[in-house]
Order: sequence, then structure tokens, then C-alpha cells
Amino acid sequence: MTTYLGRPVADLDSPQLLVDLDIVDANLRRLLTACRQRGVALRVHFKSLKCTGLARYIAAAGVDGFLCAKLNEAEALVDAGLTDVFIANQIIGQRKLQRLAELARRSAVRVCVDDPANVAEMSQAAQQAGATIGVLVEVDIGMKRCGVEPGEPALALARAVAQSPGLRFLGLQGYDGHLQLLADPEQRRAECLQSLEKLIATRRLIEEAGLPVTVVTGAGTGTWEYVASYPGVTEIQPGSFILMDCAYHPVRPEFGCSLSIWTTVISKRPGYYILDAGSKAIARDFGMPIVKDRPGDKVVRLSEEHAKVESADRHIRIGDHVEIIPSHCCATMNLHRQCVAVRRGRVEAIWPIEASGRYD
Ligand SMILES: Cc1ncc(COP(=O)(O)O)c(C=O)c1O
Repeated sequence: MTTYLGRPVADLDSPQLLVDLDIVDANLRRLLTACRQRGVALRVHFKSLKCTGLARYIAAAGVDGFLCAKLNEAEALVDAGLTDVFIANQIIGQRKLQRLAELARRSAVRVCVDDPANVAEMSQAAQQAGATIGVLVEVDIGMKRCGVEPGEPALALARAVAQSPGLRFLGLQGYDGHLQLLADPEQRRAECLQSLEKLIATRRLIEEAGLPVTVVTGAGTGTWEYVASYPGVTEIQPGSFILMDCAYHPVRPEFGCSLSIWTTVISKRPGYYILDAGSKAIARDFGMPIVKDRPGDKVVRLSEEHAKVESADRHIRIGDHVEIIPSHCCATMNLHRQCVAVRRGRVEAIWPIEASGRYD
């Protein structure tokens, strides 16, 4: 594949995952500038990328750190020299806590907690490894996934962390995942502000109890603007805005879709054509993908290795190339082992996607 560097995308075999670096640059610039103006840090969610080449590329552009959903993602980043990592999840069980403590010996790793027994085990693992782990209490601000209730329950857990050797209490995470794809911006904004009120009131309660809160983090691509502007928040943690997809784009049209799947027409009949990529190359958990730059065409079915596209275009031929924009960028990155970084139609880099297909 290295022989493809510098060559036109048209020379690539298909299917192939493409990332348009000019669009990545524009998306990054937009959000970095907005964060700098508001005085909040931008921590990019690596679960959307899973590729350390792309992570290094955006780190060079000035993002403040990375968020991870899983330990393996944090390990991949640290192995790549990107050591400011925050696992926004619960790390449960001896084996994983040992891995976390080992990681803390060679990075500034942070993690979420929502359970006192987990705090005690984590403290033990950190002491055994001679490490210090940064800890944020995860507060459930309405998503009903992980997290303790705002207010007193969060304060009680913050106290437990602060009193645990090997752990450093840093602050609070409150992720509003239930709001990200709400189509009505006014409703999204109003519900987001209500959630943030709970988070910031919890911050005040903990500070009044004498514990310094240095980090308050949350937001995804759908709510970045409201969270980044809210007094008391110190950082935001979106991921999809880098690559985007056709589910998120109508919600946040200010970010362009940089991710696509390069495909070939392999069969053709009146009214439709068939592409050489299906659900094994294009995630469909958020719905059907769309065809890039061919507004009249519609993907109507994905089978494992085929996509059926309805089209009135009688001139399209077998062997032509078509680009597909997926409906879920994060899940699509997880299906591939490499991505091709492209600029103005030429191959600039080919990066392995180290954390794809890993869930540990
Ligand atoms: C904890 C957490 N933070 C932030 C995000 C935001 O990601 P995105 O910008 O891709 O919506 C997610 C998405 O799953 C998440 O789980």
C-alpha cells in the first residue's frame, strides 16, 4: 500500500475507507477556535477515530487531549506517545484495574467512577503499581447510563476518592448522550442547559465541602456549543465532529463529512446499481448511508458485501467509483483495519486503525 502514497484516489482498489484531510482540518479549526474563545479545553473522543495516525495528526493541530471509551484505546494512544488520556468509563475487575494502574505509570491517565467498591479496588491497584490515577466522578445528568445522581451522592463519592491513596480526585464528568441527535436545536439546547445546571450545582456543592474541582467535562458533537459556553465547565469531549456522518450532519451542519467509503459499481440494472461494499464495510446501526455528490441516488439496501443504490442515472457504468458517506462514523471506523488519508484527491497517508474490532 505504501506505493499508493501521492497517487490519485482513483488508483486505489475498493472498498477503501477514505478520510479527507482538508475537511478534517476545517472541522478541527472551527471547534478549536470556538473552544479557545470560550476558554475551555478540547478533548477529542478517540472511540470515533480508533486510529493513532489520525490522532497524532489532530494532536499536532493542537487538541488538548483524548477521551477513550475503553482501556485498549487508551493503551493504543499511550503506545503512540499521546499520553493525556481520559477513559470516560467504569474500569471494573482486578485484571483491568491492573492494566489501568500500569498505564498510569507511563501516562497522565484519568478515569471515571460511580461506585465506592470500585474506588477501593482501584486505590489498591494503584498502590500496588506505585501509580497515581486521576479520577472523575461520573454524574448522571439525564442519560440514565453510568453515573451517580447529582448532588449528595456525587459529593459522597468524591470524598471517598479524595481519601483513597493512589487516587487523585480531579472533578466531574456529565455526558448528555441522550440529547446528541435531538433534531430540534431549541429543545436540544434547553434540555442541555437543564442537565448542566445539575452538573454545575454539584460542582459548587463539592467545592463548598472543601474539595477542589479542577475538571468539569461533558458534551458530544450535538451539544458542544451549549456545554462549551456554560460557566463552570472546563472542557468538552466530542468525537464525531472530526469525521462526521449522515446521521449527525443535519444536526450539526457546520462540520463537514470527511469520512467516506470508496466503492466500485459491480453490477447494474434499470433503476439501480450495486456497489462492492455492504454492512461489513459500512455500519448501519444509525440507518442507511448516503451517496456522496450524487443527490438523486439512494442506498436502499445493505447486504454483507453489497449495497443496492436506486438511481435514475442511465450513464453510470460497471467499474465506476462511487463514494458512500456512512450513517455512523465511529462504528464504521471499527469495521476497518486501515484508512487512507486523502488531500485534494491524492493519497497523503495510509494509517492502521489499531483499536478497531477491540472491546476490552
Ligand atoms: C462519554 C462520552 N463523551 C462524549 C461522547 C461524544 O461523542 P460524539 O461527539 O461522537 O457524539 C460520547 C459518545 O458516545 C461519550 O460516550
